[in-house]
Amino acid sequence: MRIVNTVDEVRNQVRRWREQGLTVGLVPTMGYLHEGHASLIAASHRENDRTVVSDFVNPMQFGPSEDLESYPRDIEHDAAVVEKNGGDMIFHPTPEEMYHKGFSSFVDMTVLTEELCGLSRPGHFRGVCTVVSKLFNIVKPDRAYFGKKDAQQLAVIRHMVDDLNMDIEIKGCPIVREADGLAKSSRNTYLSTEERKAATVLWRAVNKGTELIRGGEKDCGVIIREMSAVIDAEPLARADYIKIVDCATMQQIETLDRDALCALAVYIGKTRLIDNFFTEDI
Ligand code: PAF
Repeated sequence: MRIVNTVDEVRNQVRRWREQGLTVGLVPTMGYLHEGHASLIAASHRENDRTVVSDFVNPMQFGPSEDLESYPRDIEHDAAVVEKNGGDMIFHPTPEEMYHKGFSSFVDMTVLTEELCGLSRPGHFRGVCTVVSKLFNIVKPDRAYFGKKDAQQLAVIRHMVDDLNMDIEIKGCPIVREADGLAKSSRNTYLSTEERKAATVLWRAVNKGTELIRGGEKDCGVIIREMSAVIDAEPLARADYIKIVDCATMQQIETLDRDALCALAVYIGKTRLIDNFFTEDI
C-alpha cells in the first residue's frame, strides 16, 4: 500500500494499472477513517482490482466559521485502516497540490443543494462537487464509493455525474453505526463523555420516525413534530433541521406518498451531527 502526495504519482500508478487491464475503485474521504470508511474501502476492494483512497480535508467545502482547522487528522492511523481493508493507494495531497495559485474553476449545482445541509452550509456543495470532480479527473475510477449518511451529498454527486456525463458508477453504501446506534463520524471525536451519551438522541429520533411510519403515519408534519420532541427532550441537543424530502428533488413534502428521505442535523454542544433514513429501507 503506497501513500502518494501528488497528482502525477496517482496518474502514473493508475496508468500502469490500466495497462494491465485492471479496474479501479475510488473512495473519496477527508481522512480520520472509521468503520464507515472501512466499509467503503472493503466494498471497493470486493468490486475492483485496485482501490485508491483519497485523504484530503478539503478547505473549499468548509464555511468561514466551521471546523477546518480543528478537523481531526491522522495519516498513520488512516494508512493502517486502508491497508487492512484492501486499499492499494492513498492520495494525500496538500491544499496547494489540489488548488494551485490562481485556481478559479468551480463545479456548482443549482438544484438539490438549496435544502437540508445546503441551507445551513452555504457553498458547501460547491466545494464538494469541485473537489470530487477533480478527484474523478485525477484517478479516472470505474466506480466511486460514498456513504449514505451523507445522503444529500450522494444525491448531489449522482446528479453531477449524470449532468456532466462522467463515466463513473456511483455506489452508495449503508450507514455504519456504533453499538448504541450513533452513526460513525469523524466528528464524533469532538464529543465529551457527556455529549457522547447525549448524541444517541439522533438514533432515538430516527427510531421514533421509522416506528411512526411503520405504524402507518403519512403526515410528515406529525412525524417531524414527534422526532423534534425526542431531540428537544435532550438538554445538550439542539436541532438544526429535521426534514422529510422527496428523494429525487430534495424538496420538502407534506405527505408520504413517494420515496422519501428523512434527514436530520443536530448540534450536540458545538458539534453538528447528521443522520437519516430512507422510507424505502423501512
Ligand atoms: O464525505 C466526505 O468526506 C467529503 O465530503 C468528500 C466526499 C470526501 C469530499 O471532500
